[in-house]
This record gives sequence, C-alpha cells and structure tokens, in this order.
Amino acid sequence: MPKSDQLQRSPADRPSRPLVVVSNREPYLHSVAEDGTVAWEPTTGGVAVALDALMRERGGVWIAHGAGNADRRVVDAEDRLLVPPDAPSYALRRIWLTEAEEHHYYEGFANEGLWPLCHVAHVKPVFRAADWRAYQVVNKRFARAVEAELPDLTSPVFIQDYHLALVARYLRAARPDLRIAQFWHIPFPHPDQLRICPYRRQILEGLLACDLLAFQLDRDRRNFLAAARTELGAKVSRGRVHVQNHVTTVCAVPIGVDFDRIQKVTRDPGLEAEKQRLRRELRIDTPLVGIGVDRLDYTKGIPERLNALDCLFTRRPELRTQLTFVQIAVPSRSKLESYKAVEADIDQRVAAINARHAGDGLAGGPVRYRKSALRIRRLVALYRLADFCLVSSLHDGMNLVAKEFVAAREDFNGVLVLSELAGAAQELGDDAVMINPYDVEGFADGLEQALDMPRDERQRRMRALRRVVAGCDVFQWASNILEGLEQLAPQPLPPPPGGTRRTARPLTRQTATPPVPVDR
Ligand code: G6P
Repeated sequence: MPKSDQLQRSPADRPSRPLVVVSNREPYLHSVAEDGTVAWEPTTGGVAVALDALMRERGGVWIAHGAGNADRRVVDAEDRLLVPPDAPSYALRRIWLTEAEEHHYYEGFANEGLWPLCHVAHVKPVFRAADWRAYQVVNKRFARAVEAELPDLTSPVFIQDYHLALVARYLRAARPDLRIAQFWHIPFPHPDQLRICPYRRQILEGLLACDLLAFQLDRDRRNFLAAARTELGAKVSRGRVHVQNHVTTVCAVPIGVDFDRIQKVTRDPGLEAEKQRLRRELRIDTPLVGIGVDRLDYTKGIPERLNALDCLFTRRPELRTQLTFVQIAVPSRSKLESYKAVEADIDQRVAAINARHAGDGLAGGPVRYRKSALRIRRLVALYRLADFCLVSSLHDGMNLVAKEFVAAREDFNGVLVLSELAGAAQELGDDAVMINPYDVEGFADGLEQALDMPRDERQRRMRALRRVVAGCDVFQWASNILEGLEQLAPQPLPPPPGGTRRTARPLTRQTATPPVPVDR
C-alpha cells in the first residue's frame, strides 16, 4: 500500500500499537502573530518532519519541549493537544523549561558540550557543572512525562538524540520492564574524542539502559561499542553490550525521508507557479541555478562552499551572468557565540563574493542569501529549480537535505554535490559528485563537473540515487528500529532497591528467536 494511503487510514485501522516518541524539538509550534492571534507552524528540518510522518501513521503521543511563545495557551490541563492542528492524528505533550533550564540544558550541555563533542568541526566543546546539573534535571522531567503518558506498559518508547541521553536510565529505574529504543541522529565520537567529556560514563550508562540503541552509520556503532568497552569495561559480543544483567542491542540504521510525500508535492499543479514566484522573489534571471539549504550551523561547511564558488567564478568569469547560487540558511541556536560567529562569517563572505563578481551592469552579484525556513512546497519548488544542490558538511550524522533533493527530482535532473564527510555519502557516494569541503580547488572542480555533466549522465546518476533514497524511506527506517525492538528477547529484571522482583509483562508478537540484526 502506498504511504499516502496509509496516512489516510483512520486511527482504528492503524497497523501497530501507539508509539511514545520523545525528543527535545517539538513538531508544531504556536506563537503570537502580529495581530495578537495565535498561529501555528510545523517545525521545519528533516528530523522533525520525518518523525511527524511516522506519528501521523502510527498514532500515540510525542513528548517534547514546548518552545513557542503561545504554546501554553493551546494545551489542556495535562499540557497536551492534538496535532497536526489541521488534521489531528496524535497527541503532543509539551514539557516546560525555565529560561535558566533552556540556557543550561539546551544551549549549554546539549549544544555547547555534546554537539561539538560529536562533530569534528573544530569548535571546542564546553562542559560546565551547572549545565550538566540542568541536563539531568530536564532529562528526569522528560522521563516522568513518559511514565505519565504511557498508553500501557507494552507501548514502545522511542527516544531521539543527544539532548536526552539519560531518559532511558531514569525511566528504567521506575519501569524496569518497558521496551525502550533510542536513535542517536548525530555522529558518535571516537573514544579518544569522547574522553573530553567529564560526564561520558554517565552518558554511556544512560544510553545503555535502552533495549535497542541505533546510530546512523556503522562507524558510530563501532565508536559506541569501543567506548562502552573501554570506559565501562562492558562485555560486548555480537553487537550486544552486557552491563549488570542488562543487554543493549546496538545497531546502525540510516534514516530516510518521507519519499512519497515529497513526490506528491512534486506533482502538485501549483508547483510551476511556485517556482516562478521563487524566481521573481530571488531575482533569478540566469539559465543556471545552484542551491544550498541548511540550518545555519558551523558543521554545514557554508563558508567552505562559498570559497569554492568564489574560486569557480574566478576560474570561469563568464558564469557570473549565467549562474545564480541561492543559499537558504535557517537560523539556529543563535544565542551561542559559535553560531553568531559563523553567521557573521557567512554574511561577510557573501558580501565579498557579490562585490568581487558583480561585474559591469550586474546588480547584486551571483549569490542570493536568505535567512529563513521554507515550508515544504516552497522547498520542493526550490529543489526543482536547481541544476545542482550543494551539501558540504564538515561532519554530519546523515544530512537529510541530500535525500530530500533526490526525492524531489522526479524529473531525473539536477546534480547532487555531496561532501565525503556527510553520513549520506555512505549510501549516495557512488552517484553524487563527491567533494571534500576542506579542498577549495577540488571542490571547485566538483562544481565544474556538475555544471558540465552531459544530460545522459545526469539522468543516469539521478535514477540510481532515487533508487537508493526510495528504497529506505522514513517508514522503513522506523520499522527497522521498532520491529527490531519488538523482536528482542525479554530481559531479566534487576531486583528493585529493597523490594520484590516485578514481573515483566509479556509483549505481544514477542518471539523466542534471537533479535533480528537491523544493521545494514
Ligand atoms: C539536528 C539534531 C536534531 C535537532 C535539529 C535542529 O538535526 O540532530 O535533534 O532537532 O538538528 O536543531 P535544534 O537545536 O533547532 O532543535
């Protein structure tokens, strides 16, 4: 059955048990509009969009930080509401954080500590005791909310990412028999790099309270297993980590996009008009268009990409009148100095390139830079305008822009220029034009290769890329993880402190066979 049909099923026909998803970022955000009314918008960004598709299909409850300034106005007495607001299909339970908690837990520990720790982007991680304390407090709050929201003890709990590394541990202490999976969306550092973190053992123990722990790539899985062995002295055998009677299965399952939904947008009869609107708004009057779409983050290699474009326009000045490059950068974590610094750097580089390559009679130069998010229809229209899309991450767990671009190219046109340091390179490396963002000249060669590529070759490569991206979409990703979780053998329960042993509730569809290895 096509995914679009599945999405239209009524909740009663749903294929599997409702799911509890836990993440820091919420899928829908409410804010006060200029006229004082409350408006809502979906969170843009690959991860939230991907999980929203899954929740619309499965139903259940999604627990996340309520970050919008009107979020409190629209929830019920239990801090819940049904979403999507225009087609309710699952519950969103909002968690409230004080300003100080947001500062220490989200900006501090998660994004000044763990984010740079896990990405090799040469920004020094910062670990402060106050941030760590807030991280523990907030993780405990998420765990308590999961307990309160559990539809029943057989509901699988699916935790997302590095903001919530301790949730499984707190949850397990209160509910030893729960089935818990966690997906770590970003790279997992090598043990030598992990050693920078003073709280690494607690982070590892927190994650090892899961029954199943999944990473994007085998490299991340191997780094995690090596860290569990060296830091905790854990016994590791056949991808399973044994600590104090508990077994965690650790696997690699690369995330995908909602391929069918993107395809559906490409067939929207209004898409052509949207493309024309974008051309007008962005003042594109050249025959060739290149694009980049990123969160404004120092891991995305945006300055490196601008250097390569600068080099290209210097090598081939005739391109100044033939090629427009559109950079969409979605502001992110903007209170942090490291993000302010990369934003200022990009502003300055765009201005310099545009001044250098404006040429006689050319107003404004070849780069159009917009700092705002795009809704899915505009985003797909932009993907379809492009002759090439640049993904030049310095280090990236996966990079869903690369996969979205491919999903949007039903016309088999357009070239993906992809960093060999992005997780997506593992699956898309054979048919994208591969570049190293640290090699300016080589990157510019890649751009020339993309621009000069014969139509036949472009189409052949895009067909091959589409086969890969369609072959493992977000639904496949989620079911690999959740079915893997269901098939795990029951765990012996640890004796509760000072109490009698609880009995694990049997899970339906549980099998006596060993867990299906979900690594690919
Ligand atoms: C990355 C992380 C996600 C995060 C997203 C946006 O993709 O893996 O967990 O939600 O960035 O970042 P933000 O800080 O805005 O939630």
